[in-house]
Amino acid sequence: MVNVNSEAQYGDYQNEIYFRGLSGVVPTMPMTFADLEARARGALAPSVLSYVAGGAGDESTQRANVSAFERYGLVPRMMVGAARRDLSVDLFGLRLPSPLFMAPVGVIGLCAQDGHGDLATARAAARTGVPMVASTLTVDPMEQVAAEFGDTPGFFQLYTPTDRALAESLVHRAEAAGFKGIVVTLDTWITGWRPRDLATGNFPQLRGHCLANYTSDPVFRARLAKAPEEDPGAAVLAWVQLFGNPLTWDDLPWLRSLTDLPILLKGLCHPEDVRRARDGGVDGVYCSNHGGRQANGGLAAIDLLPDVVEAADGLPVLFDSGIRTGADLVKALALGATAVGVGRPYAYGLAVGGEDGIVHVLRSLLAEADLIMAVDGYPTLADLRTPGAIRRC
Ligand SMILES: Cc1cc2nc3c(=O)[nH]c(=O)nc-3n(C[C@H](O)[C@H](O)[C@H](O)COP(=O)(O)O)c2cc1C
Repeated sequence: MVNVNSEAQYGDYQNEIYFRGLSGVVPTMPMTFADLEARARGALAPSVLSYVAGGAGDESTQRANVSAFERYGLVPRMMVGAARRDLSVDLFGLRLPSPLFMAPVGVIGLCAQDGHGDLATARAAARTGVPMVASTLTVDPMEQVAAEFGDTPGFFQLYTPTDRALAESLVHRAEAAGFKGIVVTLDTWITGWRPRDLATGNFPQLRGHCLANYTSDPVFRARLAKAPEEDPGAAVLAWVQLFGNPLTWDDLPWLRSLTDLPILLKGLCHPEDVRRARDGGVDGVYCSNHGGRQANGGLAAIDLLPDVVEAADGLPVLFDSGIRTGADLVKALALGATAVGVGRPYAYGLAVGGEDGIVHVLRSLLAEADLIMAVDGYPTLADLRTPGAIRRC
């Protein structure tokens, strides 16, 4: 159990927990996703819980995202002496301590007990070195979120508005605030059919939540007859009209021209789309089905990852949808992901334990991944990607 090397490794988190146990101190945070989700159910307001936990249709794609991981497995290697593991990764010239990142979660602000979950997430990023991809839909404006990142790089997720000047303003603000890349989400220009939220007529943004990046934006404000503080209802209506842009490939040169920061396209699952993105000059592709929240009846995202990686042909591939454990993280890496995102687990960690709760969730994911790499004899991410390391049954 005890790590004989002095330099900390992610797996050491278990030693901290076991040693505290010697003094009778047991973790206050859950150690499994199932327990975490159960605790979050009690901690979140019903409308936020339904929005976070729910997905599209009967949620079969959402469930498949998770269960599909069970069909993949690492093949253990022995006598490797994997006493030290290296999970670090190079991404767009950034050296990250691990391949884990926090996927953009639009209502993360509301998942915190104090209503400022974007800031808590940014602080957790600073403490762990796990980057946050900050959504366009936040309680606190992006500048305030970015100010909490410390030395950890952050990325800005863009929901491209129909108004190009507003899109440009958001991207340029992200540049000025110090974000290190722009993630353009393509699968949410329209909201998918979400029975849980429909059953209660609940859509947070229509109630004026998480619109700070708009209401603080000079271009958005210039479109309004009255300031959002004076007429919040009119601001919400303006947001409805501006939010969703059904982009086509013809828009890619314009998107590319907006910034010199790395641009990634989120939601790419078809190899042909990956090739078009590559040809259009993006810096990375992001394979995801939005955690099954947008279109039901789709395949598990992890089953689509290998073809995306092949089509990306060396371009960085980010992945999310269905990651619940460190084992899932390792499997996605072995299937070729450059970096792997987690969504609902950190939202639940925040709901249950605030900033510390997120840190616990991230450290647990990394500890389990690290220990699997130790036990199974894959000390580096490159080792995980060697032929035969992972099999599908
Ligand atoms: C409550 C919630 C809000 C989300 N908001 C956004 C968002 O604003 N932008 C975005 O690109 N993706 C958003 N996503 C999708 C996540 O970035 C990610 O694709 C998904 O959560 C990954 O699946 P997982 O929850 O199974 O880990 C959201 C997901 C959840 C659960």
